Amino acid sequence: MCGIVAYTGPGDAVPILTEGLARLEYRGYDSAGLAVVGRSGDLRVRKAAGRVAALAASLPARFKGGTGIGHTRWATHGEPSDDNAHPHVAGTVAVVHNGIIENADELRAKLRADGVVLASETDSEVLPHLIARSAAAELEDAVREALSQIVGTYGIAVVDTRHPGVLVVARNGSPVVLGIGEKEMYAASDVAALVRYTRQVVHLDDGELATIRPDGFRTSTLDARATRKEPSVIETEDAAYDAEGYTHFMRKEIHEQPAAVERALRGRLDGRFHTAHLGGLELDPREARAIRRVKILGCGSAYYAGQVGAQLIEELARIPADAEPASEFRYRNPVVEADTLYIAVSQSGETYDTLAAVQELRRKGGRVLGVVNAVGSAIARECDGGIYLHAGPEIAVASTKAYTSTAVVFALLALHLGRIHDLSPADGRRIAEGLRALPGQIEEILRQEDRIAALAADLAKYRSMLFVGRVRGWPVAREGAQKLKEVSYIHAEAYPASELKHGPLALISPDLPAVAIVPDDELLDKNRSTLGEIRARHGRVITIGHTDAGEDSVVVPKNEPELDAILLPIPLQLLAYHAAVALDHDVDKPRNLAKSVTVD
Ligand code: F6R
Repeated sequence: MCGIVAYTGPGDAVPILTEGLARLEYRGYDSAGLAVVGRSGDLRVRKAAGRVAALAASLPARFKGGTGIGHTRWATHGEPSDDNAHPHVAGTVAVVHNGIIENADELRAKLRADGVVLASETDSEVLPHLIARSAAAELEDAVREALSQIVGTYGIAVVDTRHPGVLVVARNGSPVVLGIGEKEMYAASDVAALVRYTRQVVHLDDGELATIRPDGFRTSTLDARATRKEPSVIETEDAAYDAEGYTHFMRKEIHEQPAAVERALRGRLDGRFHTAHLGGLELDPREARAIRRVKILGCGSAYYAGQVGAQLIEELARIPADAEPASEFRYRNPVVEADTLYIAVSQSGETYDTLAAVQELRRKGGRVLGVVNAVGSAIARECDGGIYLHAGPEIAVASTKAYTSTAVVFALLALHLGRIHDLSPADGRRIAEGLRALPGQIEEILRQEDRIAALAADLAKYRSMLFVGRVRGWPVAREGAQKLKEVSYIHAEAYPASELKHGPLALISPDLPAVAIVPDDELLDKNRSTLGEIRARHGRVITIGHTDAGEDSVVVPKNEPELDAILLPIPLQLLAYHAAVALDHDVDKPRNLAKSVTVD
């Protein structure tokens, strides 16, 4: 969703801001804008609904400045329009804002009553007015005063022509990262906008603000207590944010899975005790033994990967485990138990529903681990401990490599917990060997891409599809349906294969193909009889499993049955991708969807 970039230094801010905003496009946006303080001290603002490239192309040559802020907006208050785009301006002050100001109506009414003319319908516009009205001598104090009147979430960046060379940024629930350069400084809502310029970053905490000048920065809390921050180094290479010859990031990320899985496994398998070492768990064996239940929380694909995780933990560690959408959990006043281990799953580490579930759990004294991809993200920082995916940046809206890496990380966690409980060394070794085989087996599946693409192009003619699976195949079916609908817009519904005869069998017809997840496990015969029921009603069946059933089947290599749910989704990712390509959709930016859902 929304993105922020800011710069102060000897260079021209404009190309840095426009390039940075382009790097944030993947998150989803509808408008973009810039404000820079010109060398003569004047404020120059350009903003418009539409793409960053169009905005950049519309800038006159004289649009330059040494200090500036930029923004990509995802509309929440007021439609996408030039007026509603950020930055918002009041006199000498310009502000970009991510997040939601809950008391905006009240603040807007107060400003209007004082004679202020508001130019937009946004919640964010109150900020520059509140800052501009402050009598404080320092910009930082004026921002602090304004923020004390705000109820809601924010990541903001502020410039004021009365304070040349100064940027003030602040964070509460919406990320802000500072980038340290050579006599120049950057800030952004996502390191993606910074990696081209610097690898030294500082993540602000909630309730913190920073005053940034070209030669450095100082941080403090909202109540003006100074804080100390240690810079960290961004691991990711700049190239990871490029499509590197691929037409779409989604396809690139599907093909990155062998390497991503290798990274998720690296240094984590123990050949002596046939277990897994997970450094960030913060859970000693005694504490691990005391866990009576595991509850996994995430949204969308992260939730489905969590469902795979719950099955793995229950199978390998014999600890009762289940997954629930974080977006539901947070609203149902959940009972929080001391001997339950809660695990929050998130690629971005910013999904608001998941973050709110974690905060609710922590408030009630629950122990929460994070299974997160984005290092230093809000969810990672909020948890008691956790495991990073190390999948590298995921740019396409549809999650692929992060989904697979999450399932792999859960297999490691299940192995670790299993070996503390009753999983035998022989079974531990069997699972560890299975995990080591995954990257090569994913390569084998990817080599079938042309066949899967042909199948997808044929399936793209249908308006609706059914995805069915049993037990280990059930989260796979859900993820397959999710991928297809997200990028191809073909209606897809997932059902447990066992439930078909309790209702959905009524839908079966030649117009509704069924994609069936049929691993060669102890349920194969049951699955075969379900497929018989579909075929008897003239339904087309496409099988994803270990048996070659001709044209309408995709065969994945056999691994340990417990790990089936890691390999089986990969053909479904390719199926969804190629169906979307066949239908000529913008695969990386599906309609109505954003990469990080940072709003309530
Ligand atoms: C699906 C997809 C979404 C995300 C969900 C959670 O392809 O990308 O369903 O999985 O919005 O996002 P994260 O994992 O960033 O919390």
